[in-house]
Parts: sequence; structure tokens; C-alpha cells
Amino acid sequence: MKKILALVLTLAMVLSLAACGAGAAPAESAAEAAGSAAASAAEEAAAPAADGAKTVGIAMPTKSLERWNRDGDYLKAQFEAAGYAVELKYSDNDTDQQNNDIQAMIADKVDLLIIAAIDGDSLSQTLADAKSAGIPVIAYDRLIMNTDAVSYYVSFDNYTVGVLQGEFVKNALDLDNAAGPFNIEFTAGDPADNNAGYFFNGAYDTLKPYIDEGKLVIPSGKTTFEQVATPSWSTDTALENMQNTLASYYSDGTVLDVALCSNDSTALGVAQAITSDYAGDNTPIVTGQDGDIANLRNIVDGIQTMTVYKNVSDEAGVTLDVAKAILEGKTPDGSLQLSAEAAYDTSSYDNGTGIIPSFLLVPWTVTKDDLQKLVDTGLYQWDSENKYLESVG
Ligand code: BGC
Repeated sequence: MKKILALVLTLAMVLSLAACGAGAAPAESAAEAAGSAAASAAEEAAAPAADGAKTVGIAMPTKSLERWNRDGDYLKAQFEAAGYAVELKYSDNDTDQQNNDIQAMIADKVDLLIIAAIDGDSLSQTLADAKSAGIPVIAYDRLIMNTDAVSYYVSFDNYTVGVLQGEFVKNALDLDNAAGPFNIEFTAGDPADNNAGYFFNGAYDTLKPYIDEGKLVIPSGKTTFEQVATPSWSTDTALENMQNTLASYYSDGTVLDVALCSNDSTALGVAQAITSDYAGDNTPIVTGQDGDIANLRNIVDGIQTMTVYKNVSDEAGVTLDVAKAILEGKTPDGSLQLSAEAAYDTSSYDNGTGIIPSFLLVPWTVTKDDLQKLVDTGLYQWDSENKYLESVG
């Protein structure tokens, strides 16, 4: 059974990779095709959803960023293999559409909802309806704000993601010993995504002592999250913003040492701007997060320096653990047996209605020197020339 499922996952990833080429975001239809190939094959393999099987509704934000395609595929395959029926919807980064998609799943009487919100603040009314219908909600990866309908939050330790980026910079520049000063620019994420502030703060707080003492300088003067946020985590917007920063503050030969980017989709745009518009001879440090295939290529090519890797297959697995317990009438807590390492946290995430009990997985740093760590997860493999990584499943 496991073998068949592994084959199915491999097939789905091979299809979606073939569709999207080297690292570009998969085209909507190709990714859908891969998803449904996985779905129908997984149904055959796992023979789930016998009459009376419980149904889980999964709402993902968009297919345009690599990671959510992975999340959706992993969640669907893992829940189906565990005997659940799955309704999976992507909402094209459109909050109205996501509200409608979730309403449709409530109308379909799903037994539990798993939601990665597009805008954490826009789902209150819809989730009030879910609550009235007695449907428990797990906030997936991104916390959903201002609703008392969220039972649990499953994510990574988001603040630590930023800390890992900051620490990488601190070590790479040897900030405790080097004289400096070094120049740095920040690029943060989507203000509608509750995670984005955590990532930025984790990185900024780690580097703040060096900024305060003048060893790290921000020539653009853009020091706040609001000034460097990137709506929708858009690669194009990040590219444009970095081009503007380079034109305004670096065209006189000022050296850029670090471009601290909160994630891989923004790092892709920033690295492109540096490649095309930065005149200096040095190679600035560029950080990221996720381990998207295009960014792993850039890491091999020296265009991006590191990424903070989050194993979203494990995130799907922990979500299944929590969902299963809820659907069996249990109350998940720190004693729950988990399929991957995650901390049970009852203090960090207040969504405006109180603390949401959270299961937080562990992110880690990946550089060119330790890409093999990703191969060791079983989710990536070297390409035929042993140069770049590609997805396994
Ligand atoms: C996720 C990141 C991702 C970003 C853009 C965040 O909520 O935690 O992993 O890079 O959204 O999709």
C-alpha cells in the first residue's frame, strides 16, 4: 500500500515538474492535472471514502506559489490514505473566492476544515457559519484572526524562521568580530498574512543590535515591516521594489552586502533585480524560506545564499494527527503522538479572541553545502547531472 502511494506521489510530482519546467510556478491546469492524477490514483490505491467516511475540506490560498501545490498534494494524499474523503480547493489568492469556497464546503457538510488563509482577517463571518454548523477548524500554516471558530493552529515556528535568517547573516559576516559597516536591505511578506510579521521580526530582532551600533546600515532607510512588505508575496513586486531601491540608493557605487528576504518567492525577484541592476562586484547574501525548486537552483548557482527549509509533508502529517484526534472526539494536547517533531504551544499565538493551541514544527537552514539534507528527506533527488535538485513527491 505504502509503495503504491509513494508511486502515486512520485507520478504527481513528475507530472507537475514536467509541466512547470525548471522551477517556475506550475501552470494552473497542469498542476490541477497532476493533483487529480494523484487524487484518483490515491483513491484506487487507498480505497478510502467508503460510504460513511468522514470528509475533510481543505482550503489552500493559490497554485501560483510552489509550496501550496505541495501542501495540497501532501494533505490530500495523506488524508485519503488514512481513509478520509477530501474536498480540496485553491482560491487564486482572492479572499472573496476563498470565503465562497469555504461556504461551499460548509454546505457540503464536511466534517472538518483545514484552512491556509489568504487574508487572516477576512474569514470571520464564514467561520462563524462553520462554527454554527459544528465544523471544527484547523488554521493551517497561517493563523486566522478574529474568530473564535479556530480549534487549533498547525504551523512552523514562524519567528524562528526569521531568527535563522538573521543568524545566518550574523555568522556569514562575522558581525561580532568584523569591523564593518555592512549594508543590508530587507524584503518582507504579505501584510495580510499573519506569518509575515513574525518572519520579519525574527530576522530584524536578531540583527537589531548590529543595526543600532552602526555595524549594519540600511541605506534606503526602510526599517519597518510596512515599508518593506510585499503584497501577495509577489515575485514581480519584490523585483520592482528591489530595482527601485538599487536605482535610488546604490547607483552611486554603494555596496550591497545583504538582501534579507523573508521567503523564496520574494528572494526570486530580489535576486533577479541584483543580477540585472546591481553594479557592484561582490555577491550580496540573499536569504529565503521554503526550498522552492527555482530557489534551490539559485542556491547551486550562487545567486541565492540560503533558504530556511520547512518540510510541508511533515506539516501535513501533523495536521492529520491533530484532525484525526478531533474527529475521534479527543482533545489534542501535548500528549498527542505526532508523526513529526513539533512543539505544543499554548502561549504564542493569540488570534484576537484568545490563545489558539498550536503545534509548531521545526524549520532549518539549508545552504549550497548541505543540499543533501533535502535529499535525505526523501522528497528531493539530484538531477541526472547531480547538479540541481528536483522533487520526488
Ligand atoms: C508561508 C511561507 C510562504 C509564504 C508565501 C507563508 O504564510 O509560511 O512558507 O513562503 O506564505 O506563500
